[in-house]
Amino acid sequence: MKKTIAVLPGDGIGPEVTDAAVKVLQSIAMRYGHTFHLKHAEIGGAAVDQFDNPLPQQTIDVCEASDAILLGAVGGTKWDANPAHLRPEKGLLNIRKHFGLFANLRPVKAVPALLSSSPLKEEVAKEVDMIIVRELTGGLYFGEPKRRSEKAAVDTLVYTREEIERIVTQAFEIARTRRGKVTSVDKANVLETSKLWREVVEERKAAYPDIEVEHMLVDSAAMKLITDPRAFDVMVTENMFGDILSDEASVITGSLGMLPSASIRSDGFGLYEPVHGSAPDIAGQNKANPAAAILSAAMMLKHSFGLDTEAAAIEKAVMGVLEDGYCTGDLAGNGKRVVSTDQFVTKVVEELEREFVSEHIMYS
Ligand code: NAD
Ligand code: IPM
Ligand code: MN
Repeated sequence: MKKTIAVLPGDGIGPEVTDAAVKVLQSIAMRYGHTFHLKHAEIGGAAVDQFDNPLPQQTIDVCEASDAILLGAVGGTKWDANPAHLRPEKGLLNIRKHFGLFANLRPVKAVPALLSSSPLKEEVAKEVDMIIVRELTGGLYFGEPKRRSEKAAVDTLVYTREEIERIVTQAFEIARTRRGKVTSVDKANVLETSKLWREVVEERKAAYPDIEVEHMLVDSAAMKLITDPRAFDVMVTENMFGDILSDEASVITGSLGMLPSASIRSDGFGLYEPVHGSAPDIAGQNKANPAAAILSAAMMLKHSFGLDTEAAAIEKAVMGVLEDGYCTGDLAGNGKRVVSTDQFVTKVVEELEREFVSEHIMYS
């Protein structure tokens, strides 16, 4: 298979974890006979520095000419005082909006080898297997008016029926491929947008009689995510609730550095990026956990290219390295062997090779 992938490393640990994902993609290409044409482009603070724009036109052009986008992370203190249009985060919001990537899929799966690394008790964290379906191109992030004066500031929370329908439908479809349960998270006891959200979920569920549906208020969901995370299968929610709840859910796995994501639209095109940010506190130190970026690349192979076997091989290789007791500093403790970002990736690539050889070469 021949595919073009736009690679947007961004800022902080973004380039380190993106390099890691690229090494894994190269290994997959070599072993499974694919051609991945990687096209590098700037986004975020790196793009502000070079082009005075967090999402320059040339980056959009590269992405438009690609089959999928792999992104690292954006942001950093250097740009924190910039006006809104020159903030790295604006580049990320703009690329999501430009490509209509309304569905952000954030799977959260407990890793057996990391159960002792989670701050949650093992019996609470074990066997968690859920996915947060976060609406990504609406809500408070994009609503107008959005402005500030000396004395006040305004952000607008707006959702149209159509925006809610398409994300809720996506969640129902995903639930059909899983355990068949959707938890819709809102604040319908206070917010008008949430009341509309709940109505739409109730309407859509008629088309999915096989799916169990529950509504949960976001404050209560935040609590339940920590006390009883196995109660969730598919959680669907609006943009900001999904942002916050997914960072919270990452503690189940032991580290934010474990959570991948896919931002997709209906035709299979997608942007794949870790849930975490640019981690300025550890940037440039070869310490970042590359698992989230590597697993995001696996999501790309599966969702955008239909390469399920290759995606599964990557997941298995990452889990294998963790089971062998290796991890990066964010997961240190409990007798684990802490390795650098580079060493972790080397181990994943070795594991991929071992798997490939055992599946494709037979002795008799
Ligand atoms: P963050 O996710 O960057 O970091 C939070 C904590 O988690 C830090 O202690 C960091 O060291 C740790 N961490 C994150 N990813 C890790 C990894 N792969 N390996 C090991 N440790 C990891 O969040 P923050 O510190 O609140 O934000 C820093 C910057 O990142 C801000 O500018 C923010 O706007 C930006 N940000 C970007 C994205 C994105 O690009 N998608 C997401 C979140 C935050
Ligand atoms: C994320 C990030 C972004 C978001 C920021 C950097 C704009 O936190 O991808 O989770 O809030 O969507
Ligand atoms: Mn976030």
